[in-house]
This record gives sequence, C-alpha cells and structure tokens, in this order.
Amino acid sequence: MSSKLERKQAAAEAALESIRKGCRLGLGCGSTVNEFIRLLGEKVRRGFSVRAIAACTQSEAVAREAGVPLEESSEDLFPLDVLVDGADEVDIRMRLIKGGGGALLHEKVLAFSTYKFIVIAEGEKLVDELGKFPLPVEVAPFGFAGTLKRIRKEAARVGCVGDIALRRDGKGKVFVSDAGHWICDCAFGNIPDPESLSIRLDNIAGVMGHGLFLRLASVVLLGKEDGVMVLGDSDGLILR
Ligand code: 5RP
Repeated sequence: MSSKLERKQAAAEAALESIRKGCRLGLGCGSTVNEFIRLLGEKVRRGFSVRAIAACTQSEAVAREAGVPLEESSEDLFPLDVLVDGADEVDIRMRLIKGGGGALLHEKVLAFSTYKFIVIAEGEKLVDELGKFPLPVEVAPFGFAGTLKRIRKEAARVGCVGDIALRRDGKGKVFVSDAGHWICDCAFGNIPDPESLSIRLDNIAGVMGHGLFLRLASVVLLGKEDGVMVLGDSDGLILR
C-alpha cells in the first residue's frame, strides 16, 4: 500500500521527466508541488538549469532550501514553457478547483501565461463533479460586504447555494492571500455548470480571482496505488 506522500511523490517525479534543461518554469503551491521542487533541487545540484518563478512565498522558501534558483517577474521569462501546480479537485475533463493554499490569483496568472500546464496531485483528488471542496474566491477587502452579496446572487443564478466563509488563519485572524486579498470559501456542493459560474464570478468587480481553473490544464498526473494516471496530453512524459 503506498502512502499519500508516496502518491504525491510519484506524480511529482512523473512531471519532472518533462522538464527540459533551461526551460522557463512556473512553480505553483501546495504539498505536492513542494515534493516536485525538492526533486528538482536534487537535479539542479547535479548541474541541471532552469529559470523558475514561484507563485507563493511557501514555494519560494522550499525552492530556496532545495537550491532551485528563482527569478523576479521579467518580460523575457514569459510566456513560461511549463507550469507545475497542484489541485484540490480535478474532474475527468481536467477542470480544476484550486486555492486551498490561498495563492489562487498568483497561480491563475501563471496558468494564463504558460504553454504547458502540468497538474500534479494524488489520485483522491479526481472527482465525478466539482464542488465538494469549497470553492475559494479571492476578494478585495474594500467593499467586502457588497462583493459577498453579489457572489451569493450570481452563484444562486446557476444553482450554487451554500455557506460562504471568510477564511481565517490558525489564530482566527482574517487570512490574507499572497496577493494581499481576502478569501471566501464557498461550500456550494456540486457545481452543476462550472463554466457559467466562472463567467459570473469573473464579472464581479470585487472578485480578484476564483479557484475554478477551466480549459487551462494540459495534462493531469494523478499518483495512484498502481502508478500514475494521466489525463490529457502525455506527450513528452516518460512514465515508469
Ligand atoms: C494552492 C493550491 C494547491 O495546489 C492545492 O491546494 C493542492 O495542494 P496539495 O498538493 O497540498 O494537496 O491550489 O492554492
């Protein structure tokens, strides 16, 4: 029986196979991405070079510790060749819910600026329908109450109703995202039409980003008990 960590590592290892020397690489966030960064660090210590940018401070710290050099956002770094990021839920059409770690806006900025987006996760993240994981929505603190009302109204129009909680940290303080915003976790349950919900949320002025990542992933690597399951384009991946 493989452990959760081993399944994350298997997905991370599979992603590493498709990273070419010198490539412009985006690093997302989360425990699975941390495994990827550590493996990448081992390769870098053996002389492998990449030009990397991290979506969140946690990944920056892991990269620093692993010896992966990071760059500031400069024009010649974009578009990225590859982005490697995790997910909180994935469906068979490679639609994702992300943002459990709170860096969703930065992650989405990178996802929109890359040729290839590789998602790594352990197999339990694959779901029949998105929405069991509360959908994170990143909002501007200014006018928060008004934005919240608008989110409720727009979501209800596409059949999404449920508790919306302002995210707090371990000490009960309002959680502040890597981009300086607040996050609402929307417990809608199954989201019948993610595309319509995504458009409606995108059109709310105080919404800075949301965790629905649709038509963005190129390939999803899921670490499972019996190996790595691949969704999408496995071109260039060598799976053991
Ligand atoms: C952070 C994310 C993460 O990628 C997501 O939460 C998955 O994390 P993990 O690999 O720890 O399960 O979207 O905003």
